[in-house]
Amino acid sequence: MNIYRFREIDSTNTFLKNVREKKDYDVAIAEKQTLGRGRRGNKWSSEKGGAYFSFLLKEKEEISSEEYAKLPLVVGYSLLRTFEKIENLDFKFKWTNDIYINNKKLSGILVEKRENFYIIGIGINLNNEIDEEFKEKGISLRTLNKKYYDREEVILKVINDFKENFKYYLDGNWGQILNYLNSKNYLFGKKILIDLRNSKEEGIGQEIDKTGEFLVEIKGEKRSFSIGEIHIKRS
Ligand code: BTN
Repeated sequence: MNIYRFREIDSTNTFLKNVREKKDYDVAIAEKQTLGRGRRGNKWSSEKGGAYFSFLLKEKEEISSEEYAKLPLVVGYSLLRTFEKIENLDFKFKWTNDIYINNKKLSGILVEKRENFYIIGIGINLNNEIDEEFKEKGISLRTLNKKYYDREEVILKVINDFKENFKYYLDGNWGQILNYLNSKNYLFGKKILIDLRNSKEEGIGQEIDKTGEFLVEIKGEKRSFSIGEIHIKRS
């Protein structure tokens, strides 16, 4: 496992994507990113003080594509458990893989793939102040708790916990993971606007089902939506 450390880089995900010799669990850590990326082409603000890192997960033949399809949820589950070990606070899981606290986003995950490697990128608002433009929506552990966190210690904890939790998942514990995620389901009962390719629908968030899809009640009927199919606009 290699650890690449940067004072400043465009994006740790982009960096690992382009590394020629990739190894399982290689990690890239940056103090600051100039082009931090979120899902759906969003920008991830990456000012100094936050934890911005990515690691590689080598695709293995014995693990099916159905199992890998739930990877973002498993990463989210693992990250939630790590936060709960660090602080005894009521963290919530926002499908598909964000961590929320006090109705604000604490951490986001971007899973990408290049050749036979998954690139798991995580941004945590740790010791940073939140940019004025994101203050309504984002929160950092420091602003919440007035404490200083050792960035690298937190990052290594997240990765080590993921190793264990990924094994737990592959050992047949998806049911337990799902139950836990549903017990921390941020979107449950919330009014949401779903942006489908050709239409918009309003509904009430329900549970995550056993395939990892998200159920939404629309006009009295529960419909399921897959990762990538919907964009939740309002919650
Ligand atoms: C999201 O909330 O949409 C996902 C945010 C993921 C941000 C992290 S920061 C480290 C890694 N490098 C990036 O460019 N993005 C991810």
